[in-house]
Amino acid sequence: MALPWTVPVMQAPVGPAATPELAAAVSEAGGLGSLGASWTEPKVLREQIRAIRRRTDRPFFVNLVLSFDQEERLELVCEEGVPIVSFSWGVEARLVERAHAAGCLVVAQAGSAAEGRAAVDAGADALIAQGVEAGGHVEGETPLVELVRQLHGGVPVVAAGGIADADGLRRAQAAGAAGVVMGTRFLATPEADIHAGYAERLVAAGPDDTVRTFLFDGGWPGAAHRVLRNSTYRAWEAAGSPEPGERPNEGETVAETDGVPIARYAADEPRRSTTGDIEAMCLYAGRGVGLITSVEPAAEIVARMAP
Ligand SMILES: Cc1cc2nc3c(=O)[nH]c(=O)nc-3n(C[C@H](O)[C@H](O)[C@H](O)COP(=O)(O)O)c2cc1C
Repeated sequence: MALPWTVPVMQAPVGPAATPELAAAVSEAGGLGSLGASWTEPKVLREQIRAIRRRTDRPFFVNLVLSFDQEERLELVCEEGVPIVSFSWGVEARLVERAHAAGCLVVAQAGSAAEGRAAVDAGADALIAQGVEAGGHVEGETPLVELVRQLHGGVPVVAAGGIADADGLRRAQAAGAAGVVMGTRFLATPEADIHAGYAERLVAAGPDDTVRTFLFDGGWPGAAHRVLRNSTYRAWEAAGSPEPGERPNEGETVAETDGVPIARYAADEPRRSTTGDIEAMCLYAGRGVGLITSVEPAAEIVARMAP
């Protein structure tokens, strides 16, 4: 099975930052764009899928994080005839069968060899190997190249975590990957829905400015994530890294997005419309962040990855 791309690059489903404009720009340039639809109202998701289709005829995918109930969204994705669905944070044979019945290809993200085997047993057509270098929520603790080698040999494996340029693609391919997923790199584009202050910090940061933590747990407790070390992280560390319930300024509102207050340790990242203390919010970033030197159109990033 070959993935339907001409450039072996997927744009990671970076939650609400993954706009239809971003997904369409990546797909139109020959990669595979995506929506991170796990928290999107079904009505809005349907409109976003149609908005991608108005911009491009090329394939794209919709991601669903299975730590949350996704039955209604999966039905909608099937009804709309989305060509590829990706599951992360678990996989269920029943959901894979539902997607296959609608003619969808199924890609499943794995953070370990055991998760990869479970996904293949459940019927996944391809795997995403997510290494510990990844930005956003991180499923496992294995370095990327090692994980790709562990998963290589059956269905195609696409490498995610810390990759932001063509050198990273070459390294992943040398380990057996069919291509790469880039999340943080595509955040620093005009098409992504992130706050300009967040984009500036991505451009300025190096790999050691990121940390894997459980700190920003509001809305999704107990799931590790990689972020930029910021004032919230440093104040928590200085206080002796206390448990939830005893953290500095817990419960305080730091910002607001479209009228919704964002609490100090919330998992929400700053969007274009966010106002408040942007720096103190959850600033997801992978270890490839040091390779990002400017905000650039998504199509230019994809073009640089072309063989
Ligand atoms: C801001 C942000 C949001 C993310 N949201 C999701 C998501 O909704 N679903 C998912 O499967 N992965 C999500 N991820 C993880 C990506 O799928 C991918 O594994 C990761 O971005 C790869 O590492 P990189 O950022 O170093 O390229 C997110 C990552 C970031 C940076």
